[in-house]
Amino acid sequence: MKIGNVTLQSPYVVAPMAGMTDTAFRRLVRRQGGCGLVVTEMVSSEGLVRGIGRTLEYAEYTEEERPVSIQIFGGDPAKMAAAAQIVEGMGADIVDVNMGCPVPKIAKHNAGCSLMREPAHAASVIKAMSNAVRIPVTVKMRAGWKDDDRNAPELARMVEDAGAAAVTIHGRTAEQSYRGVADWELVSRVAEALTIPVFGSGDCIEPEDVIDRMASGVSGVLVGRGVLRNPWILAQAADIAAGRARRQVTVRERGEFLCDYIELLLNERVNEGDGFRHFAPGADRPAGVAVEKTVARGRDRWVINKVRALCSWYSKGLDDGSHLRSRVNSAQSLGELQEIVDEFFFAASHDTAARAVAAG
Ligand SMILES: Cc1cc2nc3c(=O)[nH]c(=O)nc-3n(C[C@H](O)[C@H](O)[C@H](O)COP(=O)(O)O)c2cc1C
Repeated sequence: MKIGNVTLQSPYVVAPMAGMTDTAFRRLVRRQGGCGLVVTEMVSSEGLVRGIGRTLEYAEYTEEERPVSIQIFGGDPAKMAAAAQIVEGMGADIVDVNMGCPVPKIAKHNAGCSLMREPAHAASVIKAMSNAVRIPVTVKMRAGWKDDDRNAPELARMVEDAGAAAVTIHGRTAEQSYRGVADWELVSRVAEALTIPVFGSGDCIEPEDVIDRMASGVSGVLVGRGVLRNPWILAQAADIAAGRARRQVTVRERGEFLCDYIELLLNERVNEGDGFRHFAPGADRPAGVAVEKTVARGRDRWVINKVRALCSWYSKGLDDGSHLRSRVNSAQSLGELQEIVDEFFFAASHDTAARAVAAG
């Protein structure tokens, strides 16, 4: 399938997730197969235009992730157009607009899902961006802002007219946040009404869910929390779609995934040669402490926090998952973290895959 001139080898997509779908995670999911597109965490248009280092980091990606979509948020058409040009200049394949984030910090700036409250303005943002870049501009929205005003079908048509090359609908309203269930009937109606590709998002936890949702008439499915629990879910969905038995994932492989994640995160920081790039200037540097030591400590803490965040999802569905979660949350050093991972996933008794893996 295609989004504009970009070909996707598979209709299964890693959904954008702030704080979670960093380049290391996206690369590892890609390597498992079955993934047609990855989307970055949402990136501030304001931060891009002002060239803020931390914002630019959120937009970083590697060649092996292609095709890659960079998601931006903001509400000002001119700034969003300028940010789209920066994204295009960074070599991204697609620029996606966040019209789904319900968090007040974002919504109060007339960005994220708040844009759904002003459809004409939202369409003007897409028009300005489409006029400014050659890469496809796509939109990710919710079912609506309020439960009693599910205006995704109308807004989707408006952004299509304004030049959007594809639309994703997360079938919940901002009012719902993550409560209740995604309304796939509404997603299906939008897919039927539009000529551009429509993707659906919401509640795909098992690979079979992905297959079922494809039957709703969408061009593809974005998987969010399901891929954090089970990074093999897209590959397993591809197996099922191709009539193969879905691949089994052993406890050891799950451990290896975490080790690879830690290694990629560490390399990212080492290779850039400037450990402080990721921290507010001076913020992590107590007076009198050698710079190298502080860099390493700041980096280690960052890696531990990233692994903690992933494990809060990754541990779900594992036997003893809550034990893993609480141990990882108490890890004070990288060494300790590695020990916990080794013990949980690589102890001899697990080699025979004795521990049941719900996700595998
Ligand atoms: C931790 C987290 C962060 C998210 N961040 C974003 C984001 O930055 N941009 C976005 O469009 N959606 C974001 N979402 C929404 C997901 O992309 C997805 O649409 C939603 O979680 C429903 O799909 P799921 O049930 O497969 O998780 C986020 C969801 C989660 C759980």
